Amino acid sequence: MKKVVFDEKERLFHLKNDQMSYVVGVLMNKHLGHFYFGESLNEPLKQSYFRTDQNKGLTANVFEGNSSFSLNNERLEYPCYGTTDFRQSAFDILGENGSTLSDFKYKTHRILSEKTPLTGMPCSHGDAVVLEIELYDDVMDLELTLLYAVFNHAIVRRTRLKNDGDASVYIDKLMSGSIDLPDNHWEMMQFSGDWARERAIYTSPLRPGIQSIYSNRGASSANHNPSLILKRKETTEFHGEAIGVSLIYSGNFLAQVEVDSNDISRLMMGISPDYFKWKLCPGKCFDSPEVVMTYTSTGLEQLSKNFHRFIRKHIIQDKWQNRVRPILLNNWEATYFDFDEDKIVALAKEGAKLGVELFVLDDGWFGNRDSDQTGLGDWFVNTQKLPNGIKGLSEKIHDLGMQFGLWIEPEMVNNQTKLMKEHPDFLMGDPSRKISHGRNQYVLDFSRDDVVQHIFDQLTLVLDGSHVDYIKWDMNKNITEAYSRQLPDDQQGEVFHRYILGVYKLYDMLTTRYPNILIESCASGGGRFDLGMMYYAPQAWTSDNTDAIERLKIQHGTSMIYPLVTMGSHVSAIPNHQVARMTSLKTRGDVAYFGTFGYELDVTQMSSAEKNEMTEQIKYFKNMRRLIHTGDFYRLLSPFETNETAWQVVDEEKEEAFVAWFKVLAKPNEAIKYLKIRGLDEHDLYYVTGYDEPISGSVLMNHGIMIRPSFNGVEKTKAPIGDFQSRVWYLKKANNSQ
Ligand code: DGJ
Repeated sequence: MKKVVFDEKERLFHLKNDQMSYVVGVLMNKHLGHFYFGESLNEPLKQSYFRTDQNKGLTANVFEGNSSFSLNNERLEYPCYGTTDFRQSAFDILGENGSTLSDFKYKTHRILSEKTPLTGMPCSHGDAVVLEIELYDDVMDLELTLLYAVFNHAIVRRTRLKNDGDASVYIDKLMSGSIDLPDNHWEMMQFSGDWARERAIYTSPLRPGIQSIYSNRGASSANHNPSLILKRKETTEFHGEAIGVSLIYSGNFLAQVEVDSNDISRLMMGISPDYFKWKLCPGKCFDSPEVVMTYTSTGLEQLSKNFHRFIRKHIIQDKWQNRVRPILLNNWEATYFDFDEDKIVALAKEGAKLGVELFVLDDGWFGNRDSDQTGLGDWFVNTQKLPNGIKGLSEKIHDLGMQFGLWIEPEMVNNQTKLMKEHPDFLMGDPSRKISHGRNQYVLDFSRDDVVQHIFDQLTLVLDGSHVDYIKWDMNKNITEAYSRQLPDDQQGEVFHRYILGVYKLYDMLTTRYPNILIESCASGGGRFDLGMMYYAPQAWTSDNTDAIERLKIQHGTSMIYPLVTMGSHVSAIPNHQVARMTSLKTRGDVAYFGTFGYELDVTQMSSAEKNEMTEQIKYFKNMRRLIHTGDFYRLLSPFETNETAWQVVDEEKEEAFVAWFKVLAKPNEAIKYLKIRGLDEHDLYYVTGYDEPISGSVLMNHGIMIRPSFNGVEKTKAPIGDFQSRVWYLKKANNSQ
């Protein structure tokens, strides 16, 4: 049950759902105090329960004659600079007179039963109770509104600034949300890495001062995912408190925790204030992106479940929410740039025979793109490679009974292209300076409407006449030399944000014109794996690293925030192209099942035994995918902690479950292990793969499935042996099975 209660006498707002409460109060100077975010509370609530009114030494105080009210000692909801709080502010606004001082006081509020969408930006949607608290600064005539939406599994926040005055002001910082937690006994969990090793889990205790993650690359980045978890030291998957935040945004971000000398932990998140300055003219509004905040008292498993359910229902568009995703075959690792129509059709034919549902033509079909040196920006078909165009090829693929998908990288341009010759001014960068490249390519200035429109027009020429069901939208260079030739000097600080708004605009134009095309976002793999992208593209390529063993960590880390249905996961060839590792087809398949599932290898080179195995994998996944794409995910063993990994999915009704266990390195003479299953009905019996008789849910959950070690020597056995083993089990409630 979701609600927002306002207690006028106490000047308290209580935002609440079944799992969490969030309490905000109006302080005596009419600024807002943050009083509580945690386990769901029962009313009545009073300010006196939360406020300290401490008379501390060496503070600056707000009111003359009152030495106990200092903002520095308060827990604040949206802290400002300069009026007795010396910690980091949530916003900085530069006024006409050069001052960054402000005094935003509570003016009014509204409680609404419906949430309105943000224009031009991704946002949460669906059933929510909304609270808007309006604050006003009389000197600058600015209206600052804090907007909250209470959903079943999360609370979403954002900020809006409106200029009611006669003079322009500059926004230097406007965080989406900020909360002051009453203690510092937290550990910060972040999801960091780099290309091909995205979202590894790093956990460190909070210490006094600032700890933060950020991106100033123009994309949310593979380096730090725009999400953060605070957990107690004793919190595990199955017990304990945790708070999670994730930004619905794909550009530069900052997530920061500041621990002050009163042991208060200030957590804030929003657009990175570095290289950001937004000119807000009279009468104009600026909207921050939304930040999703969730809380649990029962472990990381529940925290992830909150995120997963929230994302599936309130970020992914309704249309894609309950659709299982097609099993795909992508030609990238099979051919790279070296293909023609015959080769592609030959691959697709083999794929169709195995049961693949979607063939994806990756990079190299356009312009004179035979390598990564050139071609980007020329979105017309290379008829030497594809004499029948995308239209002809897409029809041939459809004739094989498969859907057809196409790779694009619309934000980029190479040298020696028609686009670069005709529109050199479309480039991002200061024309009086050198512009850096990455992968031989340059970034187009998507902060400009004409650039976005030009790319859209080119893409429609290809897409309109063809039978395209899926797009893979790639992005392989971060923004350097952020400068737009069309913006005036005093608005160059807007480039990064305007760029990502341009990307969203193109997404919007394409999804409006082609509502049935499924988009998978990609940024050299997982370089833009964020909720902003997922609003438009319901799945994302998790990583360019397709090695099954590497993927254990990548997918495990990703699952802390994102549901399986958003994670692109493919079986690729051995030796693996990123790490040269040899793993069995079974292990590669078992890992890839935990995502949208597909293949990325040359099927024409597979042996008939391998093809038979792939046919079986595809059949198996088709039976299992509704469960995998819509069920709740459980992490049973972590690859970050042990030699083993175990994952599980259970449907909401606890009717069926899918369990997998992976072992990285073989060990000699091992003991029997027991894998305790989660989330079953303890009073019911379940049929389990490999067991003749059904087993009680309570036994499976409390004793576990027995994992007999294989003898890793020379034994001839059907059980997997050696390094990189995997096993899977399907569980079905006995009373429903035939
Ligand atoms: C990077 C992507 O992550 C790969 O999957 C592939 O699409 C290449 N780009 C193509 O250039």
